[in-house]
Amino acid sequence: MNMYSLIEKKRDGEALTEEEIHFVVSGYTNGDIPDYQVSALLMAIYFQGMTEKELSNLTMAMVHSGDTIDLSKIEGIKVDKHSTGGVGDTTTLILAPLVASAGVPLAKMSGRGLGHTGGTIDKLESVPGFHVELSTEEFVELVNKNKVAVIGQSGNITPADKKLYSLRDVTATVNAIPLIASSIMSKKIAAGSDAIVLDVKTGAGAFMKELDDARALAKSMVKIGNQLNRNTKAVISDMSQPLGFAIGNALEVKEAIDTLKGAGPKDLTELCLVLGSQMLVAAKRTDTLDEARQILSDNLKNGKAISVFETFLKSQGGDSSVVHNSDLLPKAALQVDLPSKSSGYVSKITANELGTAAMMLGAGRQTKESEIDLAVGLVLNKKVGDFVEKGETLLTIHSNSEDLDAIKENIYQSIKVDENKVEPPKLIYELID
Ligand code: URA
Ligand code: CA
Repeated sequence: MNMYSLIEKKRDGEALTEEEIHFVVSGYTNGDIPDYQVSALLMAIYFQGMTEKELSNLTMAMVHSGDTIDLSKIEGIKVDKHSTGGVGDTTTLILAPLVASAGVPLAKMSGRGLGHTGGTIDKLESVPGFHVELSTEEFVELVNKNKVAVIGQSGNITPADKKLYSLRDVTATVNAIPLIASSIMSKKIAAGSDAIVLDVKTGAGAFMKELDDARALAKSMVKIGNQLNRNTKAVISDMSQPLGFAIGNALEVKEAIDTLKGAGPKDLTELCLVLGSQMLVAAKRTDTLDEARQILSDNLKNGKAISVFETFLKSQGGDSSVVHNSDLLPKAALQVDLPSKSSGYVSKITANELGTAAMMLGAGRQTKESEIDLAVGLVLNKKVGDFVEKGETLLTIHSNSEDLDAIKENIYQSIKVDENKVEPPKLIYELID
């Protein structure tokens, strides 16, 4: 087998066999195949696409390039959730304890954030003492005991994906649906869960800005998962404006706590109920989405969900009294209200731009090495469709720096107020299974 003929084959629109895909992925991972040949193949895939068979073979070749997590010692059907990334997307913090409160085990491997989207681990680390450095044994033990635990990404999960992603990044081949779908699914499959619920975002703050692209990505990932015997479903949800009110690490933890007590923002709560219901059905905890939703919304009100969160934080070294007293979370020195310049209906809150503003405050990493400030961020006071009076607060900036002129200007640019009534955007576009 030689790389030249495989590039030729894909260039001419033919499908690669399982052996051929394995040859490319293992050869590239161990350094036998040079960047320039893999770059050419990636570009050929970009234009020619991949068949379903190729997609599942590529995904499995990447899974087998490194370690996989063995969750077989955890009782029950393990369900994982993945979001394609959004601004102020606090759902994992809420879903993990919420789904666990219904008895479904959640063994979550999570990462840190880069750019304008925050990582779940960064957020959780704003709880004093909390850590994710667990051995696999401790991780499994905690999930069996509490039904939920979060572990940091292991160093050697899907090394092929890491190497391919870096190459795609510099060869204009990131935005190819087969490559994105197999990249995401390889990590989910290596992480060991039996079922996967995907939250595919669409809108300004999302990877897939257009609904058609989000749908194509969702369908592709669902097919890969189901072909590989992981019960996989996807929800396409809005990311034109930020989710909930808070953007920023400690601020989102506070928002998660409020939501787990049944007092969270409407959109965030709704998305958690939709995704959580899918997870309960995928885990065969209930037969119908309606039954699942009832259990989950009861647990937000009866104290079960927040109590699981408290136990979860404590079990991983965290100060669980933050659940009762959010003043124990890191707090920014300054809280600056940003007033609306006119009266009217909020018509736009551009998610990626607010994400960037939060990153400039220090809530996100500009490069992998950046230190983040857990306390800072933004808290919206209005969402799209809300009426605002001139002078009324649009949002509050939580900052440790007084130098806010540029950020304020950016925020004003990303929020539009219109005289005419505006309907809030649709939150859930489609369910795909
Ligand atoms: N996220 C991933 O994990 N992989 C991609 O290719 C794109 C987004
Ligand atoms: Ca939020």
